[in-house]
Amino acid sequence: MASPPREQWSSRYGFMMAAVGSAVGLGNMWRFSYLTAENGGAAFVVLYLAITWLVGLPVLLAELVLGRGSQKSPIRALAHFGGDSWKPLGFVFVAAGFLILSYYSVIAGWTVRYALSGVFLGFDPDAGAHFVRVASGWDAFGFHIAFMMGTILIVARGVSGGIERTAMVLMPALFAIVIGLALYAATLDGSSGGYAYYLNTDFGKLSELDVWKAAAGQAFFSLSLGMGAMLTFASYLGRDTDLPQEAVIIAVADVGIAFIAGLVVFPMIYALNLSSDVGESTVGALFITLPKAFAEMGAVGRGVGGLFFVALVVGALTSAISLLEVVVATGIDGLGWTRRKAAIVFGTAIAILGIPSAWSTDILGAVDEVANNIFLLGGGLALSIFVGWVMTDPEAEVGSSGLVWLAIWRNLLRFAVPLFLGFVLYFAIPSTWETLVALF
Ligand code: PHE
Repeated sequence: MASPPREQWSSRYGFMMAAVGSAVGLGNMWRFSYLTAENGGAAFVVLYLAITWLVGLPVLLAELVLGRGSQKSPIRALAHFGGDSWKPLGFVFVAAGFLILSYYSVIAGWTVRYALSGVFLGFDPDAGAHFVRVASGWDAFGFHIAFMMGTILIVARGVSGGIERTAMVLMPALFAIVIGLALYAATLDGSSGGYAYYLNTDFGKLSELDVWKAAAGQAFFSLSLGMGAMLTFASYLGRDTDLPQEAVIIAVADVGIAFIAGLVVFPMIYALNLSSDVGESTVGALFITLPKAFAEMGAVGRGVGGLFFVALVVGALTSAISLLEVVVATGIDGLGWTRRKAAIVFGTAIAILGIPSAWSTDILGAVDEVANNIFLLGGGLALSIFVGWVMTDPEAEVGSSGLVWLAIWRNLLRFAVPLFLGFVLYFAIPSTWETLVALF
């Protein structure tokens, strides 16, 4: 049986929205704000921005080159350029997709729940107790399953008919909401404390290795790097795309939304005098402190909070789609399955894998740490070595762009990026191990 021709994006803009949709998600709002709070505010932000440009961007371009150049899903793309011995790395990528989506969908389920209950019932003033109810047990499980079903439905409809269409409608809406909320937050009395906290750098923090680890993990998570998501999306691109330009646009949009989300979260928390809650932040910070703020704002809070959580749902959905697509593309390419079968079978398996994370936020936090600190940073390290040293003439696959930039890119991939990621992994591995041990 001849296989059908490979799917393609219907426009460059469509690809861009889908790729930005993958990057912009819970990472930009939930993860970025709690890590910023936990790691001392602005110093973390500066470090995260630096790592995004110097380490993340070169790896992003490497993924785009591998995908577009091979027109294949991750496992086969690696084999295409490096031979069969590189296939296991592709399996690791697919495993990372499984793992990340399994808990990502649980958090996405919380956001759906908050969006619905915030708009229709109002936010619960006893936000801490409410979070405990929402974030564990059957409640979390139910919304996790519902969210996975939505993701499966969209991915099953195909690259241009499902993924691209969804992103083209939802991403502009997300931008509008987040920018609107940042402007609104600026009008609140007392918001200035939030800006000060967010933007005044305490560079002393930079001596703490934990801050480096968190910033590196966040840069990779937020750009969807190190597990083949960007690679897979780029595999549906035509020859004529200017990859460096796409990479820069994706990175600008990603850090832009993360930064603006901070301009929503911190001023709002300070305006309502909840800053002491931020200090004791955990994975739940965004889901406890902010809803408390929304509850105190009364009717306005319902509107503002509702919009905030709708933006989170949108971001989560377009990112979850890209995670599932890595696995589904592999099922189509590697196993010869139909898209629909791959989406349903793998999507269901991922939903089941997420059950422990739905049951306990401690488990969820630990899985998140393993996924980021080990899988994504390790994946990024392997990708930089692959494109920097193994692949012959990756510059030719890039196409346009100046020779100087290409030389800088290649050398970053050869030396700076692997050294940096190796260094971070060196101390991320033992501390992640400790987290896992503490769980049992
Ligand atoms: N980048 C997404 C976010 O910030 C998460 C993600 C990670 C998506 C890895 C795909 C791959 O929410």
